Amino acid sequence: MIDAAQDASAQVKADLDRLIPLLDASLTAPFRQGEAARLGEAVRYSLEAGGKRVRPVLCLLACEAVGGTAAQALPGALALEYVHTYSLIHDDLPAMDDDDLRRGRPTNHKVYGEGHAILAGDALLTEAFGVLAAADLEPVRKAEALALLAEGAGWRGMAGGQALDLEGEKLEAYDLDHLRLIHRLKTGALLRASLEIGAVLGGAAPAERAALRAYGEAIGLAFQIQDDILDATATDADLGKRAGKDAGKGKITYPSLLGLDGARKALSEATETALCHLASLPNRNSLAAWARYLAQRAK
Ligand code: IPE
Ligand code: IPE
Ligand code: MG
Ligand code: MG
Ligand code: MG
Repeated sequence: MIDAAQDASAQVKADLDRLIPLLDASLTAPFRQGEAARLGEAVRYSLEAGGKRVRPVLCLLACEAVGGTAAQALPGALALEYVHTYSLIHDDLPAMDDDDLRRGRPTNHKVYGEGHAILAGDALLTEAFGVLAAADLEPVRKAEALALLAEGAGWRGMAGGQALDLEGEKLEAYDLDHLRLIHRLKTGALLRASLEIGAVLGGAAPAERAALRAYGEAIGLAFQIQDDILDATATDADLGKRAGKDAGKGKITYPSLLGLDGARKALSEATETALCHLASLPNRNSLAAWARYLAQRAK
């Protein structure tokens, strides 16, 4: 078990060492020149704060898993990190989770004000579609990737899940199905899109694309379960964001419904489901390692 965990960490580190420089070379480029200089600065502040880059890296790995190159999926990967960073800036606003620490820094609205934080999110979301639309990609693949991004980010995906998450703060009773629905939408949808966009840009066969979509859905659920567990067990310094907020806000989480042991069991089941969906893929080693690593991550 320890060996498997060490192998997974080593594989993840090798992937990050190889792929992060590719992402970093282009990530802030669209926000460096423009008339609204302070808005560009606000966007770069959140992008440059770091973050684990899970979604873009998984997008690049999915493309490689079906025989494509990381460069082929780069516009999709950038788009995913833009949508994700926008979702965090808005998630932290006083009208949502009201947080003051993110990626180890004061939250965007604490530094630039709520108006600019809202607009920084708007700019990132719009640029996500812009960077994909402007990319030199095969037209059918590009159109499919744009549609998948809309599905993952929009009201049937992340935005819808965030609405259910907010409404959940007021619910007196809820069950596992409702909790799973919130997690599937608010976090699972964008992770699923990350894998499927990578698959499409890599020219996946239909069965490979379906397998990667299913893997993405399962690790998406696992990812939010671990986020809930870390909120209940880790420190601000570990996470670079405030820990212990969910219980205070009355959020619907796995530990609140199932307890920590129940949440850990659900996490390992979702991770096993993800691994099962990889079985038919020829190049599955990295994605298998990532599923294991994400379930045991400490931040
Ligand atoms: C945090 O996502 C929000 C969730 C969907 C749980 P990450 O844990 O991927 O945040 P960063 O990108 O590393 O900051
Ligand atoms: C956020 O879930 C999911 C998003 C779509 C941003 P959380 O509210 O639990 O994320 P953190 O814990 O603030 O990163
Ligand atoms: Mg939230
Ligand atoms: Mg939050
Ligand atoms: Mg959380």
